[in-house]
Amino acid sequence: MSFQLQMPARVTLGEGVLVQVEETIGRNRAKRVLVCTDETLRKLGVTSLLESVIAKTGASMEIVDNIKAEPSVPDVEKSLGTIKNTAADLLIAIGGGSVMDTAKIIAVLLGASYGIKELLSDPSRARKFCPTLMIPTTCGTGSEATCNAIVSIPEEQVKKGIVSAAFIPDEVILDVDNIKGLPKSIIAATGVDALAHCVECYTSKKATPLSDLYASGGAKLIFHHIEKAYTERDGGSLQNMLLGAFYGGAAITGSGTTAVHALSYPLGGRYHVPHGVSNAILFARVMAFNKDACGERLAALCDAVYPKHNARAAGEKADFIIRRISEIVKNTNIPVSLKDFGVKEEDLEDMVQSGIRQKRLLDNNMKELSPDDIRDIYRQVI
Ligand SMILES: NC(=O)c1ccc[n+]([C@@H]2O[C@H](COP(=O)([O-])OP(=O)(O)OC[C@H]3O[C@@H](n4cnc5c(N)ncnc54)[C@H](O)[C@@H]3O)[C@@H](O)[C@H]2O)c1
Ligand SMILES: [Zn+2]
Repeated sequence: MSFQLQMPARVTLGEGVLVQVEETIGRNRAKRVLVCTDETLRKLGVTSLLESVIAKTGASMEIVDNIKAEPSVPDVEKSLGTIKNTAADLLIAIGGGSVMDTAKIIAVLLGASYGIKELLSDPSRARKFCPTLMIPTTCGTGSEATCNAIVSIPEEQVKKGIVSAAFIPDEVILDVDNIKGLPKSIIAATGVDALAHCVECYTSKKATPLSDLYASGGAKLIFHHIEKAYTERDGGSLQNMLLGAFYGGAAITGSGTTAVHALSYPLGGRYHVPHGVSNAILFARVMAFNKDACGERLAALCDAVYPKHNARAAGEKADFIIRRISEIVKNTNIPVSLKDFGVKEEDLEDMVQSGIRQKRLLDNNMKELSPDDIRDIYRQVI
């Protein structure tokens, strides 16, 4: 038996570390830098320091800032269309998961002889045309560590993950200064997404000793810091969230998310529920459903995160983890009903049909889900 984990070659964590981009440009002897971001981040000034550091190096810089939140296939095609004549020897993405995922696809498709639809049907053809540096500004998808890029497919009203080793970034800068101005609701939703990555990877059929290390390490950081990061936004808690999100991404490359993410994708694709929110809505309910199959794993996670409960029975420890997930979603004021997003009772059957099709992730779940199980879970959150 063997286990594998993929990692960016260089990761820098801290306060004010973004200026190290200058060294990255030097190391790569980059003369033409392509920056991927979104309009909001530019308007808020989140990208200003990066732009001035790049300008100082003398490298030329092209910025694509029309990247959309929760990008669809046409959104990515549009961003690619605006830079189709660009040549770059370093790509830097600064933003949340939406920007980083789009940038990963750009790094493969710019100048390629095929498009995103071909990439979706055969991700094994992906090759990066230049090195990538990812700078996350949410806390977060962990996309800066993963081999995934998620896009929604409007005609199928669903989201799909494209998985390729070519998507692993070469370098990551985790600078807490980038998330100090993050709105509270985004700290909450992206933080719970990161927690879901850790808990799902730990309780996944694909969990390994390598992924367990990052999944439990990330869970520890997020369980203990998310509420403080949300209420006080202090630098220490925010930095722990940024690191926890990165660990969650690292765990994904060795393991994989499970039924929370599987059932979440139709909600993003069809009703445009933000990714972190749809996961938060489903998270505790799916874990409660899973408890009889992965109670021991949830108990082991409790031992790692809350050692003071070690003496309790396994079932109690699993319940404690599930209760903490519900508490966190409640304490961070994430919407808990799909009604808030216009989902109606009569939509249930369509949701079940879309949910069943999420085989890639449902196959990772320790407990098999029948269409009736999926219906029951969705019914609880409408
Ligand atoms: N590739 C992966 O491994 C992976 C994992 C999980 C999720 N995802 C995908 O990532 C996307 C979601 O990413 P996200 O949750 O990070 O949100 P996001 O990137 O969609 O950003 C949400 C909003 O927050 C704003 N924002 C970002 N950083 C900010 C900052 N510092 N200050 C103020 N506003 C800021 C953005 O402009 C945007 O409007 C989804 O498409 C999801 O499917 C990818
Ligand atoms: Zn996620």
